[in-house]
Amino acid sequence: ELRPPDLIELSELLRSEARQLSAPEVSEEILDQLARALQGVTLQEARHAVRRALAGSRSLGAESLPALLEEKRLLINRGGVIEYVADGSSIGEIGGLERLKQWLLERRKLFQLRESLSTDIVPKGVLVMGVPGCGKSLSVKAIASYFELPLYRIDMIEVFSGRHGDPEGAFVKACKTLEDMTPAVIWFDEIEMGITAGEAGGQQGRIFAFFLTWMQEKARGLFVAATANRIDLLPAEMIRKGRFDEVFFVDLPLVPERIEILKIHLRRRDVDGSGFNLERLAAYMKGWTGAEIEQSVVSALTKARLKEQQLTEQDLFQAAAEVVPLAQTMKEQINHIRSWAFERAVRASPVAVGG
Ligand SMILES: Nc1ncnc2c1ncn2[C@@H]1O[C@H](COP(=O)(O)OP(=O)(O)OP(=O)(O)O)[C@@H](O)[C@H]1O
Ligand SMILES: [Mg+2]
Repeated sequence: ELRPPDLIELSELLRSEARQLSAPEVSEEILDQLARALQGVTLQEARHAVRRALAGSRSLGAESLPALLEEKRLLINRGGVIEYVADGSSIGEIGGLERLKQWLLERRKLFQLRESLSTDIVPKGVLVMGVPGCGKSLSVKAIASYFELPLYRIDMIEVFSGRHGDPEGAFVKACKTLEDMTPAVIWFDEIEMGITAGEAGGQQGRIFAFFLTWMQEKARGLFVAATANRIDLLPAEMIRKGRFDEVFFVDLPLVPERIEILKIHLRRRDVDGSGFNLERLAAYMKGWTGAEIEQSVVSALTKARLKEQQLTEQDLFQAAAEVVPLAQTMKEQINHIRSWAFERAVRASPVAVGG
């Protein structure tokens, strides 16, 4: 079995490609960055990526990084099961979830020291579950940029689609491939879609068993971030401590969190919300998800732009009045998720006080 080239081979490749073009010498530090960007692809693919990147500028440097990463994204995604996620959402774009953020702050330090720590202290991963649209995916993207690591997403639905041969083989292969991409954050999205206990001895059961072993034995440089909605489908062993360092439950945001989310989404769209009564708006949005808050900001802004006017507080309230929140239509399901998570997970936000 051929392993993808390591950092030394990749640096050598970069050097020789640059020499062939008589491009200026590249510092060791930049070379290392560029080599890291190419980790996970074959030597031939790496060469192809470097040439494509060089075709534009005829020199290698920090400015080549985005082009190399884009080439890698295309190459990795071609496989179908693993997706390289280039979204650089930062922790500052998450409203609320203060406990989760605090936890990550501590883990980042430990993760960076991983080579000098004993295996049981090195962070292995986190499971984030909870109400849809409250920032699970966003948190995972933020973890990767906070840890300054590339993010790879394993699509469990692809694994089970049959397009990549039998699911067990495809899953094992994907996990093995990831070992060659350290350090990285690995995102198992909707993990409950693939990893269920299933009947003993069946394929599902074997995939699950493999996953548990892999979680314990995988390379130190891999941090796993798994997300789940239907947590009740997850086997108990998955949640038991030891596999994941922590299990977080992301609930509907509270008033201060909703204000923060509003501010984030206004700011992201270059709207100065300092004159708006966001407290009142946030109070109105009781039981809303982060995604719904964002959606109402977008729709208010769209209307204002169509009228060729600045966004007003009234636009925001009008748009808000038109949203039918998930918590209303899916009350039962959300209550079910909540009560289930109550005993089994740590709230990602500080303990609830009122709505
Ligand atoms: N806490 C939050 N702070 C800021 N924005 C948020 C927050 N929660 C959700 N959003 C916005 O809503 C969008 C959707 O959230 P996200 O994809 O993270 O939800 P999710 O929990 O993964 O949902 P799903 O279960 O549907 O996958 C985000 O991209 C973000 O723009
Ligand atoms: Mg998601």
